Amino acid sequence: MAEFHEVPADAPVGVKFLNWIDNRFPLSVTYKAHLSEYYAPKNFNAWYFFGSLALLVLVIQILTGIFLVMNYKPDASINAAGLPVAFASVEYIMRDVPWGWLIRYMHSTGASMFFVVVYLHMVRGLLYGSYRKPRELVWVFGVAIFLALMAEAFMGYLLPWGQMSFWGAQVIVNLFSAIPLIGPDLSVFIRGDYVVSDATLNRFFALHVIAVPLVLIGLIVAHIIALHEVGSNNPDGVEIKAKKDARGIPLDGIPFHPYYTVHDVFGVGMFLMVFSAIVFFAPEAGGYFLEANNFFPADPFKTPPHIAPVWYFTPFYSILRANTFNFFWLDAKLWGVIFMGLGVVILGFLPWLDRSPVKSIRYRPFWHKLVYGVFFINFVILGYLGVQPPSPVGQIVSQIGTLIYFGFFILMPIWSRMGTFKQPPERVNFKPH
Ligand code: HEM
Repeated sequence: MAEFHEVPADAPVGVKFLNWIDNRFPLSVTYKAHLSEYYAPKNFNAWYFFGSLALLVLVIQILTGIFLVMNYKPDASINAAGLPVAFASVEYIMRDVPWGWLIRYMHSTGASMFFVVVYLHMVRGLLYGSYRKPRELVWVFGVAIFLALMAEAFMGYLLPWGQMSFWGAQVIVNLFSAIPLIGPDLSVFIRGDYVVSDATLNRFFALHVIAVPLVLIGLIVAHIIALHEVGSNNPDGVEIKAKKDARGIPLDGIPFHPYYTVHDVFGVGMFLMVFSAIVFFAPEAGGYFLEANNFFPADPFKTPPHIAPVWYFTPFYSILRANTFNFFWLDAKLWGVIFMGLGVVILGFLPWLDRSPVKSIRYRPFWHKLVYGVFFINFVILGYLGVQPPSPVGQIVSQIGTLIYFGFFILMPIWSRMGTFKQPPERVNFKPH
């Protein structure tokens, strides 16, 4: 236990109160360690907005979620008007609950914007090699967050109990039945029934509202603790802790608060402009954020002609659909599931696949930038194909795209060390504006 610290008897009451707390709880110590004396590299750029923006969207989702739960009912039974109760409760929120439309549109827009922000946050990590030693765990926690976020979004999507909610869940849960031996039982276990039903809706509600958010919050706390243990990377990939002044403060570091709190508030302002524009003027985002088919109540007897997941899942959905061959004793559907899962899991191995002598893209050979460019464009093409109905051309393109996606990672130990690298600077590059 730390020693009891005394303040002079004539100290201001605020100082006395803080001292009283600090003697019982590490408030000032924590504030200093994570904010006022957390030294971050002085050359952060706009790519560094997305971590704090992801935290902002998390808060938006939790707050709007709390108010949605006050009026939403996870109930698949049919009401007097012939509508499923869950579907009708969402319509009630949209039409009758004061400001309900705003809360619901903020939550549905927030779901998509969460992925926009997190994808950009991951791209930053890729460009600057932020996953490299000593930040491997920061990245691995990040990939776990990404998986939890996908589970959260998938289960949330069932709740409005529209046609896409129902059939999307039906398709995805059915995938588990492709696993040999345990598959069929596993999918019944997940649904709690032989088909997606009221039991599925209730358990997805419980998981979406409490279980997965708890896991997410725990992982995010671990993510930030791990980051603050090793310190932030930066666009030059220079380890600022290597050069310190006499007081032990990194020469290229500035206190997170106030410098980056102000920087991040600017990012929040920019983000909220985009977010509000979508919420107020285009909450369906052309059918990408809210799909047209989900404005029809779930009907187990009417399969929609084209079932596609929401845009943020579609690159991985394309990988699933690209597997059309039966290999060994396993059928194409199972290979699809395996590759789709591997598509996410392989991200977690990045710290060990990348053997480049420099971290940041700035000091890599020009052709490495092209490799990254091809990888990102390929990911967008896979995403586009995933929202389209299956077609022979789309199938071939998604097969090539899947090869490019996995080739990028599997061949990385070889290509990442090839070429002529520029010498990274000793100190970070920074020009004050
Ligand atoms: C809810 C989701 C997430 C939240 C709230 C979050 C939060 C943060 C915050 C606040 C930072 C510090 C500020 C910054 O560097 O931007 C950060 C850094 C970082 N995050 Fe995340 N993160 C999330 C998801 C992810 C994911 C999915 C990945 C990767 C798979 C990831 C990888 C990283 C890395 C590598 C850093 C260190 C960056 C550097 O030092 O250059 N994060 N995160």
